[in-house]
Amino acid sequence: GGVYQSTRHDSGHKHVAGEALYIDDMPEPAGLLHAALGLSHCAHGLIKEIDLSAVKDSPGVELVLTAADIPGVNDISPSNHHDDPVFAEGKVMFWGQPIFAVIARTRNEARLAAAKARITYEELPAVLDIAAARKNGQDFVAEPMSLNRGDLDAAMAAAPRRIKRSMNLGGQEHFYLESHIALAVPGEDGDVTVYSSTQHPSEIQHAVAHVLGVPSNAITCEIRRMGGGFGGKETQGNIFAAIAALAARRTGQAVKLRPDRDDDMVATGKRHDFVIDYEVGFDDEGHILAVDILFAARCGFSADLSGPVTDRALFHADNAYFYPAVRLNAQPWRTHTVSNTAFRGFGGPQGVVGAERLIEEVAYATGKDPLEIRKLNFYGGPGRDLTPYHQTVEADLSAEIIAKLEESSDYQARRAEIRAENLRENARGGPFRRGIALTPVKFGISFTNSWQNQAGALVNVYTDGSVSVNHGGTEMGQGLYIKVAQVVAQAFQIDLDMVKITPTTTAKVPNTSPTAASSGTDLNGMAALNACNNIKERMIAYAVEKHGVPADQVEFLPGRVRVGNREIEWPDFVKEVYSNRIQLSSSGFYRTPDIHWDRKAGRGRAFYYYSYGAAASEVTIDTLTGEYRVERVDILHDVGSSLNPAIDIGQIEGGFVQGMGWLTTEELWWDDKGRLRTHAPSTYKIPVASDRPRIFNIELLNKPNHMPSIHRSKAVGEPPLVLPISVLHALSDAVASIGDYKIFPDLDAPATPERVLFAVEAMRARV
Ligand code: MTE
Ligand code: MOS
Repeated sequence: GGVYQSTRHDSGHKHVAGEALYIDDMPEPAGLLHAALGLSHCAHGLIKEIDLSAVKDSPGVELVLTAADIPGVNDISPSNHHDDPVFAEGKVMFWGQPIFAVIARTRNEARLAAAKARITYEELPAVLDIAAARKNGQDFVAEPMSLNRGDLDAAMAAAPRRIKRSMNLGGQEHFYLESHIALAVPGEDGDVTVYSSTQHPSEIQHAVAHVLGVPSNAITCEIRRMGGGFGGKETQGNIFAAIAALAARRTGQAVKLRPDRDDDMVATGKRHDFVIDYEVGFDDEGHILAVDILFAARCGFSADLSGPVTDRALFHADNAYFYPAVRLNAQPWRTHTVSNTAFRGFGGPQGVVGAERLIEEVAYATGKDPLEIRKLNFYGGPGRDLTPYHQTVEADLSAEIIAKLEESSDYQARRAEIRAENLRENARGGPFRRGIALTPVKFGISFTNSWQNQAGALVNVYTDGSVSVNHGGTEMGQGLYIKVAQVVAQAFQIDLDMVKITPTTTAKVPNTSPTAASSGTDLNGMAALNACNNIKERMIAYAVEKHGVPADQVEFLPGRVRVGNREIEWPDFVKEVYSNRIQLSSSGFYRTPDIHWDRKAGRGRAFYYYSYGAAASEVTIDTLTGEYRVERVDILHDVGSSLNPAIDIGQIEGGFVQGMGWLTTEELWWDDKGRLRTHAPSTYKIPVASDRPRIFNIELLNKPNHMPSIHRSKAVGEPPLVLPISVLHALSDAVASIGDYKIFPDLDAPATPERVLFAVEAMRARV
């Protein structure tokens, strides 16, 4: 039950049996009221009149809340921009922005009432996308970052060959299976406990306190599990928690706010879509010499996390490649759309798409296999180890992983076979073409806000020897709880079933960072280990004093403790220690060492280490319809020494399929009024079971982290999302076959069947 074992997810069996309690499954407090949101029907405009009389008169309605009802501040911004109102006041900034909330006896009554509002607007020009923002001279929602190394202009001018182009890259809806939800329960003195589906309980606590105008110690936030977060619950839960808490305080009753799926999709932020303008200078062999990329992002109406998200696009715009001279810039554009937010990879995947696009360009220009261009440009060799942010790349695994995967996936032979068959099909006029691509990922691990790299934990050993552990991390399906429990079981050398994982709550471990940046286990595992070690040290000190043995003669063995020549069963030892008045509870703390980041200068050691991986993907496209399927995927991924291979493989598999959805079938579409038209699974196409690659081989590299992370493991949550860039490039490879691989297909993402069909037709028109 300790570390390095494929222990099942602690709740896996409960998830499938319907026994895992999500917030909406919790027994409801007596007198529970339900809230519904009233959303704007205008993308940008002045609110001229709000007539809520019909809402108030609607059956079952107890209370209607608007901005005027907020006792504290009308702001739940996670940044210091203070630009995220709970309720729009005077002005609306996107179609779907909450303007009021209605509290009723039942959820249906609340929803029916909300629909009866009469709100009139004076419409203002709405700037909806990046192109319009550029044309309109919109402002940025946050200070853009810039990374520079070398004399870019000189290097570009001196490069024998240059390509300058642009690509569009779509956003993504999180589509967590459990939509947002908050349940607020009032206590004494106006205190409120909020059960919130959130990745960031401390921020919920602080945001609710600000909105209510009370100190943080009046608010508790608790969360046992989310039905998926994927970054969409890092900040986006604030509004639901704040409204539920406000209503609970006003009514003295418990209040639940669970938007339906359509409202959740319309009113909460998504992955940023990007326009990537790039210029690459290279030589005839395919060595990259100079790189100049501008990452423009649609951020929506407020800052939210768009600053750090666009930063991370730049941090990953090198992916696994060394750029001798480089200039990277971000443009976080303000638009009159929902405020975009964190999504698995946090802008990093968009950066990697840019890097891999350059590789593809150079490969087509030089007539070489993109894999050959990748290998040519890896970090490594004298003077080739510095990232665009001036961090030295250490212990680079890219070349090793690529070489192993190239072999194990039989890439070369399959590629030759696929090309030969495609050319035969060109001659025959058959409808199907196949494609293959192998792409790597190198992903920096740490919050780029250095101060967030800290965590706390609380470990209690009870007198019967059972243990409970609490920490600041949240469980969203990724397996954080089980991994931390494994760390604790390992520390005390006890069975995993003696370790109880308790819901995350701000009352036990305060001032925590969000569970994000894939750092949950790295940070909370270490904090929990620190707490265990504190308790163990006290136990050892006790044994030394009481039994007169040297400290090295006290040893924690499976299920027992050896003290000199005696072995004492764990529960007996615990009882003995307790009877001698030794504290069996400890908090723990961890902060990541050795990292520092100067954003203004664009220099520092932003990441503690990198996680690596690669995927080889093969697809078949139907050139008559543009439809495709993913035939085979081989993945080799680096998770250091895996704490739990079963969980890690699950993360890789899930991350891959989620990223595949982003780059293929998932398309967000707003109409010219700024209204999101893809706001339900009927119109927004996430991957389903039948989209899983027909053959799906996932292997772990299993090499200890060179940095002393928790048991030498590595973070796994986000990096695999980047692997399905191989699917995008395999689709591109299949399209290119129609032009005998001579013309660059220039495929944007998402490569929906429609877009693949257009690319095929464009290719046919050119040959
Ligand atoms: N896996 C599941 N099943 N559900 C999720 O919501 N979120 C991802 C990833 N894997 C997510 C997931 C994201 S965005 C991050 S940052 C990490 O998990 C967070 O958890 P960790 O830091 O414990 O890896
Ligand atoms: Mo993950 S996007 O860092 O929550």
